[in-house]
Amino acid sequence: MPDFEPVLTANVDKEDAHRLTVYEAGGGYGTLRRVVGQMSPGDVVQQVQASQLRGRGGAGFPTGLKWSFLPKDHPGPIYLCVNADESEPGTFCNRVLMEADPHQVLEGIILSAYATRASTAYIYLRYEYPLSLQRLQAAIGEAREAGYLGKNILGTDYSLEVRIHRGAAAYVCGEETGLIESIEGRRAWPRIKPPFPAVEGLFRKPTVVNNVETLACVVHILDRGVAWFKSIGVPPEPDNPRDAGSFGPKMFGLSGHVNRPGCYEAPLGISCGELIDRFGEGVWKDRRAKAVVPGGLSTGLLSERELDTPMDFAGPIRAGCLGLGTGCAVVLDETYPILDFLHNSCRFFAHESCGQCTPCREGTAWALRLCQRIRAGRGRLVDLDLLAEIGDTIGVMPGTTICGLADGAAWPIKTALAKFRDELEESIRQTNPQGYARTEPVEALNTP
Ligand SMILES: Cc1cc2nc3c(=O)[nH]c(=O)nc-3n(C[C@H](O)[C@H](O)[C@H](O)COP(=O)(O)O)c2cc1C
Ligand code: SF4
Repeated sequence: MPDFEPVLTANVDKEDAHRLTVYEAGGGYGTLRRVVGQMSPGDVVQQVQASQLRGRGGAGFPTGLKWSFLPKDHPGPIYLCVNADESEPGTFCNRVLMEADPHQVLEGIILSAYATRASTAYIYLRYEYPLSLQRLQAAIGEAREAGYLGKNILGTDYSLEVRIHRGAAAYVCGEETGLIESIEGRRAWPRIKPPFPAVEGLFRKPTVVNNVETLACVVHILDRGVAWFKSIGVPPEPDNPRDAGSFGPKMFGLSGHVNRPGCYEAPLGISCGELIDRFGEGVWKDRRAKAVVPGGLSTGLLSERELDTPMDFAGPIRAGCLGLGTGCAVVLDETYPILDFLHNSCRFFAHESCGQCTPCREGTAWALRLCQRIRAGRGRLVDLDLLAEIGDTIGVMPGTTICGLADGAAWPIKTALAKFRDELEESIRQTNPQGYARTEPVEALNTP
């Protein structure tokens, strides 16, 4: 890893980092003062676009480009939705930012709302984050008192209200249009797109949805400049016109079978193995890694042979995964059965499917039933072919489903089968020595 100065996590270990006085003592809100005094909203959008910042919430969409889709000269209101739902399994870095340094998050929100001309920002906060709620509420109060929020911010004609909306505790609430439905008071059923939120979003008005960490990055781009941001990370692959590069710092999570789980900041492009060894102090109990989920469950699995994969937006794709996702890795040690991983994964997605799309609703439930049957000692080798077929067909994006949940459900299945088929076959032989080679239909399990 090249020399690197953390910025997103620079405050988190300071005593009382969540208080305004501590944030300001470290230069906090200095960027806001400078930007609202000297830059137009269009200039800010241009800077963010030039930085090639890509969203940290999972999809890696270029942030400045998303902002540029907002209709010009719209009479308003325009809304900013801050995606703090953090529902992807294994993911917890937004929580660290909100609990430890809520003013950094707020400064990012205020700057981004200024750029997009949003008059209200809604923080859609994961229900299970009570300390984040407390810290954000207190920070909003302090910022308002200090003139950074509310009417006529810092004496300018720019005004912004920030509201917190507690999430409805489902994975699909983090999908941007499910989130919008939820704020509007309905069940978080994702909407068919187009129209995209930038054109018709919250309350049918132009809306930008961005992740907490994405917005925190905006503070540092505007503070330190585009050249600084682009000096960190990985440029686009020259022979891949679809790769927009992976610039800037990233908060990586590490959990599972590591000695030192936690949230660590590093340049995009650090290898998965270095992340585990340098920050996580290696796999626990002196074991080897069998597999790593690189960026939240929906990204699938890297095998031990693939630990040199760079943790940038393109690296996990080259290694056969969905992508970098949230950058929060989960390590499975050499003793952990892949069948258990597959079962847990299928159980999660079947539970979280909202049920609107047939391939997702039926496919996730069917995959779970197959895993349950294998674990109950009635699996057949052909069940792995069935699972592969489900993985290949439940969520082909874009096209067959309304949102990306089904596609995400497919990657753990596809990668487990592609990379650990021998182990899965052995599990079936062991659990069903009499019937593993059968091909004729097997009675369904009587599960609730
Ligand atoms: C099922 C599902 C769950 C999602 N959950 C989250 C989430 O918890 N947090 C998040 O930021 N993005 C989540 N996303 C991605 C959002 O739809 C959206 O792309 C993101 O908030 C945009 O922000 P960004 O461009 O700053 O990354 C999810 C997507 C899907 C399909
Ligand atoms: S893909 Fe699944 S979660 Fe997404 S809208 Fe369709 S049924 Fe709901």
